[in-house]
Amino acid sequence: MKPAGKTVVIFGGRTGLLGQALTSAFNKAGALPVPLSSDDCDILDPLMVEETLDREKPDLIVNAAAYTQVDLAEDEQDKAFALNATAPPLLAALAARRSVPFVHYSTDFVFRGNKSVPYTEEDVPASFSTYGISKADGERGLLRLGYAKTLIIRISWLFGPGRTNFVRKILDLADSRDTLTVVDDQIGSPSYAPDIAANTLLLLKKNATGIYHLANSGETSWYGLASLAVSMAGKRCDVTPVPTSAYPTKAVRPAYSVLDLGKFIKATGVTPRRWEEALDEYIRMNFEPAADG
Ligand SMILES: NC(=O)c1ccc[n+]([C@@H]2O[C@H](COP(=O)([O-])OP(=O)(O)OC[C@H]3O[C@@H](n4cnc5c(N)ncnc54)[C@H](OP(=O)(O)O)[C@@H]3O)[C@@H](O)[C@H]2O)c1
Repeated sequence: MKPAGKTVVIFGGRTGLLGQALTSAFNKAGALPVPLSSDDCDILDPLMVEETLDREKPDLIVNAAAYTQVDLAEDEQDKAFALNATAPPLLAALAARRSVPFVHYSTDFVFRGNKSVPYTEEDVPASFSTYGISKADGERGLLRLGYAKTLIIRISWLFGPGRTNFVRKILDLADSRDTLTVVDDQIGSPSYAPDIAANTLLLLKKNATGIYHLANSGETSWYGLASLAVSMAGKRCDVTPVPTSAYPTKAVRPAYSVLDLGKFIKATGVTPRRWEEALDEYIRMNFEPAADG
């Protein structure tokens, strides 16, 4: 589908990290995005969703809304499953009734993390965390519904403007601390939200359906991402690598969750730029250069 002139309802598009980048990308492509927050339309309220879709008459529905607090999900399982598992197939069913394409996002955290080569779309989800299990349930619900115009895009380690994220938190901490410790034994692919949004449009132009993996090219650890961000931003803070065991969290995260981008590259002919290049753009455009001295 070519986005120009199309009305695109984007759940999460007004306040979400990815959603805001999608809203900008659709705007730039000449589409008519309708960005929504939970205040505009609660995706757990089917009547409200139905009313919103009847009013906006979208040509495309994008679900960038989700329960994304990985550790809190361990204590708020009902909320996580309602948003991540129950809501997506209900939204897709409403898209099917209108015969419009449906785009949904999932995560590298659906994987267990015991591989040492990138995860492909054929690998079977087997998460340890409530967040990952709820997101995998959402994917399965969509596949079970079987609406042919459904595109599921798994992304990983998202950063970008508009909402707090790992890079933003690290750079804020670096302003007030001399040293930071960050885990170096979890490996993944950082994803710059504006790149994910632009590459989503490429998949849509190819009428892609089914599951695709998408991230920036390359891989690193959280330590690798944090230390490069701190040095690119010119902050005076020592970043030290530590093992996961030194930083216990409620949710168990995959040790390795790099996503294989081969299917995306084959479908679009485009190789996403490396995460270091995207990080450089994010920092240059969103953070004041550190003062000398
Ligand atoms: N962040 C990551 O590192 C990461 C990594 C891999 C995959 N993902 C996936 O990528 C997608 C986007 O994630 P993100 O980080 O951009 O999310 P986010 O910044 O946490 O934004 C979540 C969005 O969902 C909306 N929302 C929450 N509850 C809602 C409800 N009941 N009804 C309607 N909207 C609701 C929020 O609106 P309010 O602001 O009004 O609450 C917000 O706009 C998700 O599917 C996520 O699982 C994210």
